[in-house]
Amino acid sequence: MDNVIVDSLLDAAIKAPSGHNVQPWLFSELPGDGILVEPDVSRRLPVLDPQDRELYISVGCAVENMCVAATRFGLSAEVRVRGDGSGVEVFFKCDGNVVPSLLVQAIERRHTNRNKYDGTEIPRSVIDLLSVCGADIYMRGSMQFEVVKNGIIEADKVIYGNSRSKDELLECIRYNRRESDNFMDGLGNDVLGIPDMPAWVSRIATSLALRASIQSRGDIRKLMSSPAVAAFYAPDDIAGRIQCGRNLQRFLLTATMHDVACAFIGQPCEVESVATGLASHLDLPCRLQVLLRIGHSAPPLAYSRRRPLAEFKKFKSVT
Ligand SMILES: Cc1cc2nc3c(=O)[nH]c(=O)nc-3n(C[C@H](O)[C@H](O)[C@H](O)COP(=O)(O)O)c2cc1C
Repeated sequence: MDNVIVDSLLDAAIKAPSGHNVQPWLFSELPGDGILVEPDVSRRLPVLDPQDRELYISVGCAVENMCVAATRFGLSAEVRVRGDGSGVEVFFKCDGNVVPSLLVQAIERRHTNRNKYDGTEIPRSVIDLLSVCGADIYMRGSMQFEVVKNGIIEADKVIYGNSRSKDELLECIRYNRRESDNFMDGLGNDVLGIPDMPAWVSRIATSLALRASIQSRGDIRKLMSSPAVAAFYAPDDIAGRIQCGRNLQRFLLTATMHDVACAFIGQPCEVESVATGLASHLDLPCRLQVLLRIGHSAPPLAYSRRRPLAEFKKFKSVT
């Protein structure tokens, strides 16, 4: 495949969301116009994501961005998930029937929006479009929305009551502009609304704020500002997580196209017992993988950074 096309596909891939912005993907070439997307296990979060669930979902998001971007070049994509978790093979083929997807325009614009939302409803026609992306959508005021709310409170107690989870979370934060610009990954201070000050000062302040009562209050305030939540579920194996990531990415791009903001509600999915309880109360056929709150809002405070493409490319023939 032409180098320009390859770079364009990879550039789209790395714009995908990833748990704690770890950007856990590596790309190499496969014979026959293919790209192998490998999980970068050096980027694992052993406490917050011990089964690499979020890691593989993130890889699925990157794969879907690549497939969507390929339509710009009249290419169709065939995706083969390696069941042993060693990667996802994506093969591209010129296909006269492929028309550029409208979602291409949303790849650059999509970002997690952690603002409080303005509470306004999402039009039914947009909810219908989002519903076909593989998520159950629960409207504020419904019994299911209340179940999610209780799950957040329960999970916050577990996560913020555990010093190991808190420490790992603190490691993912970049505490001032200099750190954010140096690392180009993790949760940047500007993305989280942390003012630019000496890193040690903001580390202490952030650490003090990571208490269940404080976090839950903020999480619930933001939840209640959102007219709906979306729940993604999938079998809890490699193929299930990759497919979940692909569905999630289509959902996020579709939402972006319709100016619907999305933010992740990670904690209930990260605590196994809470995820199991929620799946049962919400009557889901398999594991709850991702929860999003959705609504309308001003743009995010800042956009998350990405490491340079060269750091992800293991291509021999393409430099
Ligand atoms: C599987 C998964 C889980 C995530 N969980 C959370 C979360 O719990 N809280 C949060 O604020 N963002 C969460 N995110 C969003 C990431 O932090 C975000 O994608 C990353 O920082 C990159 O920013 P961007 O989405 O704006 O490009 C999650 C993303 C993925 C893919």
